[in-house]
Amino acid sequence: MNETAIPKRFLRVAALACSLILAAAWIALAADGAYVGSDKCKECHEGIVGSFRANIHAKAAYYGAKNAGCESCHGPAGAHVESGDKSKIVNPAKNSAEIASAACLACHAKGKGQMFWKGSAHDSQEAGCAACHKVHGNKAKLLAKPDEKEVCFACHSEVRASMLKRSKHPMRDSSSPTGEGKMSCSACHNPHGARSEKLIAAKSINDKCYECHAEKKAPVLWEHSPVKEDCMTCHSAHGSSFDKMLTQKVPRLCQSCHMQGRHQTGTLSTNSVYALGRSCLNCHPMIHGSNNPSGPVLQR
Ligand code: HEC
Ligand code: HEC
Ligand code: HEC
Ligand code: HEC
Ligand code: HEC
Ligand code: HEC
Ligand code: HEC
Ligand code: HEC
Ligand code: HEC
Ligand code: HEC
Repeated sequence: MNETAIPKRFLRVAALACSLILAAAWIALAADGAYVGSDKCKECHEGIVGSFRANIHAKAAYYGAKNAGCESCHGPAGAHVESGDKSKIVNPAKNSAEIASAACLACHAKGKGQMFWKGSAHDSQEAGCAACHKVHGNKAKLLAKPDEKEVCFACHSEVRASMLKRSKHPMRDSSSPTGEGKMSCSACHNPHGARSEKLIAAKSINDKCYECHAEKKAPVLWEHSPVKEDCMTCHSAHGSSFDKMLTQKVPRLCQSCHMQGRHQTGTLSTNSVYALGRSCLNCHPMIHGSNNPSGPVLQR
């Protein structure tokens, strides 16, 4: 943890406390009267009460308590129940994303990732809990769609496009005969927030990559320094039109850094030995580092 992390954490807690107070104030304003319990709702909202029985919120232990169940999210319903007046009850969908999310955070502030929610990319762009979750529903993790990716693609269509490229992480289709669909977005991201940039759920992007590509972390005699610095220098994360998800084709990729030297410079003619086939990789295949005793030039 660096030195600025601690004050940031305090700011987050303070900001969270403020929005909880806002949410509580909203609930108090919109919904007056006493708690009446979920059974009461059945009289007029039979469908919702029925389908809600299978919901994890209904099953959770707090459901039986007086100020719990439906009213844990909708606030005390006494006045609403007496009058049937819909302005006397909170509908989170009609609140700002911030206030609606704060009501959820009253119980979920400590969950995996939710503790980094405040100020995260989605929070600050007003993509609140309801942008991805349908809490009345019964889908896995109460997501709005059965396939997690589809939830994300509603806003991130450019990522869907990269999934169709020639080289990509196997995420495309869970029913694909090629076995694609083994991973989903949350294999790398925590949509609620994370310590690292780009909502990456690890200490750094490289640490996330090492979780599955551990061999790239193993110590080698001759390191290739950009590898340990940032995998993203040469790879794209989701998919690419070039082999092995490279950001550019070899040799151009290599030449973006290696312009001083004998054979690696200049515009190589197409039938040059340095450009043909695997190009630079013909002679420097151990691009992530080498243990070759004869020297540091990334040979096998
Ligand atoms: C006497 C009948 C009655 C009872 C009992 C009742 N409601 Fe309602 N409720 C209504 C009516 C009528 C509406 C408006 C429906 C509409 O506009 O489609 C409504 C709307 C709502 C809305 C949406 C408000 C909005 O602004 O869109 C919520 C949330 C709600 N009720 C929650 C509850 C909860 C929770 C309970 C039980 C604690 C409950 N209701 C019990 C009659 C009732
Ligand atoms: C975990 C929080 C939560 C609980 C518990 C909950 N609701 Fe809701 N409810 C919401 C949210 C959020 C919305 C806004 C619509 C949406 O995002 O799905 C909503 C919307 C509504 C609406 C208006 C829109 C609609 O779907 O018709 C009614 C009526 C309602 N809830 C009734 C109930 C009743 C009755 C119960 C108990 C059986 C209940 N809710 C339990 C969070 C909750
Ligand atoms: C950008 C989309 C998105 C938003 C916004 C979002 N979630 Fe989630 N949430 C997900 C996905 C995807 C999962 C499933 C992740 C997994 O399986 O690891 C999930 C899982 C969860 C879970 C169950 C697992 C866990 O992390 O404990 C809870 C609880 C949860 N979300 C609460 C919330 C709350 C509260 C908010 C608002 C403060 C919120 N979510 C906002 C996408 C989202
Ligand atoms: C009164 C407390 C309370 C409130 C308010 C609340 N939840 Fe929950 N929620 C729970 C409990 C308890 C569970 C059961 C699992 C657990 O222990 O985390 C749960 C589970 C979940 C899960 C996980 C579902 C799964 O399949 O693992 C999601 C997602 C979730 N809540 C989203 C929300 C959202 C979104 C809101 C706001 C609209 C909300 N919750 C409001 C208490 C609450
Ligand atoms: C309601 C729209 C919406 C949905 C749904 C949504 N996002 Fe986002 N997301 C945004 C916005 C807006 C931003 C911030 C602007 C941007 O960078 O595009 C963002 C940013 C991000 C970022 C970049 C964060 C950064 O620090 O730059 C990641 C990663 C991300 N979202 C992942 C996801 C994942 C994974 C899902 C599905 C679980 C998802 N999003 C669902 C709207 C959404
Ligand atoms: C193998 C890990 C991994 C998976 C799986 C993954 N991402 Fe990413 N994603 C990343 C990394 C790493 C970055 C940061 C890229 C950078 O900084 O160049 C990123 C960046 C993003 C961004 C920010 C935009 C940008 O390009 O900077 C969005 C939005 C995003 N991812 C959405 C998604 C969605 C949606 C899914 C699921 C379909 C997904 N990601 C699956 C690793 C992953
Ligand atoms: C959750 C596990 C997981 C994580 C995290 C992960 N990968 Fe992968 N990666 C895979 C799988 C599975 C494959 C496909 C392997 C196969 O087809 O044999 C793959 C393939 C690749 C490939 C080869 C693609 C091709 O066309 O052959 C590259 C390059 C790659 N990953 C880079 C990365 C980078 C960079 C990161 C960090 C941003 C990362 N991976 C994070 C699981 C992961
Ligand atoms: C200097 C550019 C560069 C950097 C930085 C880099 N790679 Fe690569 N990577 C390559 C090249 C070039 C290939 C294709 C090698 C081949 O075809 O023989 C490749 C191939 C791969 C492959 C697929 C083949 C294999 O070797 O398993 C994976 C997985 C991979 N890289 C992961 C990573 C990870 C994880 C990181 C960060 C720790 C990383 N790369 C950093 C250039 C790079
Ligand atoms: C982001 C910049 C960058 C990229 C892209 C890159 N390299 Fe490097 N490479 C370096 C740096 C920095 C060093 C170590 C500095 C030095 O000793 O010259 C290095 C060292 C090397 C060495 C060993 C040189 C020596 O004398 O120790 C070889 C061989 C090499 N790179 C080949 C490649 C090839 C082949 C590619 C393309 C697949 C590539 N590099 C892509 C930055 C890069
Ligand atoms: C035909 C085999 C071959 C090809 C193809 C090749 N190299 Fe080399 N490279 C070598 C050998 C052998 C050395 C070490 C001997 C030397 O210094 O010339 C070397 C050395 C290097 C070095 C260390 C610095 C230097 O100049 O000695 C770098 C950097 C390098 N190569 C980059 C590249 C790049 C970038 C490409 C693709 C444009 C490439 N190489 C293509 C064989 C090759």
